[in-house]
Amino acid sequence: AKESKLQLVSRHIRAFPDFPKKGILFRDICPILKDPAALTAVIDLFEEHVRKNHQHVDLIVGLDARGFLFGPLLAQRLGTGFILIRKKGKLPGPTVSVAYDLEYGKAEAEIQEDSVTPGQKVVLIDDLLATGGTLFAACELMKRLQAEVLGCLVVIELKELSGGDKLKPHSVFSLVQY
Ligand code: PRP
Ligand code: ADE
Ligand code: MG
Repeated sequence: AKESKLQLVSRHIRAFPDFPKKGILFRDICPILKDPAALTAVIDLFEEHVRKNHQHVDLIVGLDARGFLFGPLLAQRLGTGFILIRKKGKLPGPTVSVAYDLEYGKAEAEIQEDSVTPGQKVVLIDDLLATGGTLFAACELMKRLQAEVLGCLVVIELKELSGGDKLKPHSVFSLVQY
């Protein structure tokens, strides 16, 4: 039988024990990007989900850095714009920022104040949901700028860390779960 898109995607995820710290099982998405069919499958599945579940999307919001690998491709498919949430200190002009914890550290997320206008409907995208600290911070930035978060998209969800609960009431759509 023909391999499903989900099988194709999951076959291109690798695991590395004890990276970047002891006790962390790092899920590496690099093989997806190296394989054109697997990358197309990711974008196909995200596109199908967004078209089915969200009526009108103004912008796709990508999270620094691995959210940038998928976000612009999806935005082009959907015919929407793409905006960036970056790690602090990278964006010029007026910005807002929020500090957060993630599975193996701390960081601060930042966005340009004029990247989204109040009332715009956005979908957030990242490669992976672990504790949810990163996507929660992104939702907080969207709240500060009065954007409406329609949902979050990730390639991988680490279920035992319950990031989905932290993000409630926002929905998370993931392709592969561990
Ligand atoms: C990684 C991953 C997610 C985040 C998930 O980003 O890409 O963005 O951790 O963890 P959380 O759900 O516990 O917040 P990281 O900042 O490590 O690196 P990156 O710059 O390569 O995306
Ligand atoms: N970001 C947070 N936790 C991660 C993990 N286990 N693998 C890859 N990226 C991550
Ligand atoms: Mg990241």
